[in-house]
Amino acid sequence: MCGIVGYIGESEAAPILLEGLSKLEYRGYDSAGIAVYNGTAIEMIKSRGRLKVLNELTHGGASLPGRAGIGHTRWATHGSPSDSNAHPHFNGDNSIVVVHNGIIENYLKLKKKLEAKGYEFVSETDTEVIAHLLDYYYDGNPLEAIAKIMYRVEGSYALGIMFEDHPREVYAVRKDSPLIVGKSEKGNFIASDVPAILKYTRDVYFMENEEIVCLNKEDVTFYNIDEEVLVKTPVTIEWDIAAAEKGGYEFFMLKEMYEQPKAVSDTLMPRLKNGDIVIEELQMTEEEIRDIRKIYLVACGSAYHTAVTAKYVFEGLARVPVEVDLASEFRYRNPIFEPGTLVIIISQSGETADSLAALREAQKHGCKVLGIVNVVGSSIAREADTVMYTWAGPEIAVATTKAYSTQLIVHYLLALKFAKVRGKVNDIKFREMIEDLKRLPEQIELLLANKEKIQRFANRYLAAEHVFFIGRGIDYAISLEGSLKLKEISYIHSEAYAAGELKHGTISLIEDGTLVTAVLTQDHLFKKTISNVVEVKTRGAFVLAVAHAGNAEIEKTADYVIYLPKTNEYFTNSLAVIPLQLFAYYVSLGKGLDVDKPRNLAKSVTVE
Ligand code: AGP
Repeated sequence: MCGIVGYIGESEAAPILLEGLSKLEYRGYDSAGIAVYNGTAIEMIKSRGRLKVLNELTHGGASLPGRAGIGHTRWATHGSPSDSNAHPHFNGDNSIVVVHNGIIENYLKLKKKLEAKGYEFVSETDTEVIAHLLDYYYDGNPLEAIAKIMYRVEGSYALGIMFEDHPREVYAVRKDSPLIVGKSEKGNFIASDVPAILKYTRDVYFMENEEIVCLNKEDVTFYNIDEEVLVKTPVTIEWDIAAAEKGGYEFFMLKEMYEQPKAVSDTLMPRLKNGDIVIEELQMTEEEIRDIRKIYLVACGSAYHTAVTAKYVFEGLARVPVEVDLASEFRYRNPIFEPGTLVIIISQSGETADSLAALREAQKHGCKVLGIVNVVGSSIAREADTVMYTWAGPEIAVATTKAYSTQLIVHYLLALKFAKVRGKVNDIKFREMIEDLKRLPEQIELLLANKEKIQRFANRYLAAEHVFFIGRGIDYAISLEGSLKLKEISYIHSEAYAAGELKHGTISLIEDGTLVTAVLTQDHLFKKTISNVVEVKTRGAFVLAVAHAGNAEIEKTADYVIYLPKTNEYFTNSLAVIPLQLFAYYVSLGKGLDVDKPRNLAKSVTVE
């Protein structure tokens, strides 16, 4: 997720582009750049680092005169943050310039074809392919060239494009990634989101998929992929800028919860090809996968909780022994590293000190380390032997939600891939599970639509002092995350327990009205967990149950039930965590707390 902006009009473009980008930094902030037509040519300045670096480099835009330009603030997905990977990207002779938000899924194939035709690439990005592809099809008609590349490019994109020989026009095109067009007396705009242009206009057009727009300083004209003119109606935006940055959500955490269906899809779909799981970045041969004798899953906090789930999935599906470790323990406990050990480090930020140290400890003992990371170019991403990115986009709220959900998806993909290569799952089962994975985004969407019901329930527990989460198997792993979410943003003491363990001590804490959240998504453990629910009920607990649709038997025991759509038992964590995130969110909101920036916490813990 990056931010793009464009302007053409009576004013100097660069200051407007920089201002717009500053309002889009929540979409990505690892590098930035602008390109402006200065009357004779397109000039570009771009750099690694936050927007303020670009601001200094361009002296607030003053060193790039001109009244038409495009700009970009980046969240790296392909190619680490660097000056050369920053956007915009030129074609060979700097006559075409492009900014892009999205992922070009077939960029490697297109790149090979273009290189075979003599095109030279200066960056590692998927986006540069667009600049050269436009060049290849360009014969003086921008619209035609854009339409031609749309037929050949796969993936998601919002593009801002300028052609040196059409200096009075700025072009843009959209497929899947958001793009808006703003119209004002003083000029016209393109942007990834409303905050970038609200200062200048509230008259906005929302671009639909496969629509192209041509801006000049007086007007905006929309086209479809067949270059036919489209008539569109603008809407007037009422929001203030701060609200707009959150997309109208009160807190980034809720916005990021609602981004989970897309984040899960963005992380899953590029790795599903022709009914198979293809993980190019894994760089392991099938033989190497068969030779894995043991896996260590190492992380902190919520990332560690995904590892607890992943142990059940890897061992259950691929029959590989897995040890799950807290990074702060792993780095000092002198773990045993035998040949055939794969160490997987999971981290949203890629900068967590304990996880980074665990990585170095494993490498010191000659172990291959796979990083599962959300921030491209972060320390763990750079130092791991191989890295699988979770394409959740930037996560602003301290309490992770969408990054957590995408980490689960990467675990499922790896475990299912290993299971197939090691002959532990047959083709029918494999295909069925792929279909189950593909259904997760829409099922998560369904659960998010349940928020009012959960808000009403949460409002009854604003004054709770102690809350317990219980479950067996993967449900225990889900309980760990549900409990942490509640603790970290509501400051209520909460604990998660393996349901069968409660009677060995902790059940002494259960008294009249104590809220116990029981997670029961594993059919083979359902009855066992019901009996644990009965145990706490008889001690006066109020039980909130999270169960699969169809398991109505739970109604007889629990006081309140949230039902989940059906999915494969190994994937239930991706669904059950949604109501638990919402519960924590609404308790924190109900208590009037700063949901996004909870006390005593940081988004990335870079100290021991
Ligand atoms: C989770 O909501 C917290 N922000 C925290 O537990 C976090 O998961 C932990 O600090 C690990 O961070 P990482 O994924 O960036 O390494």
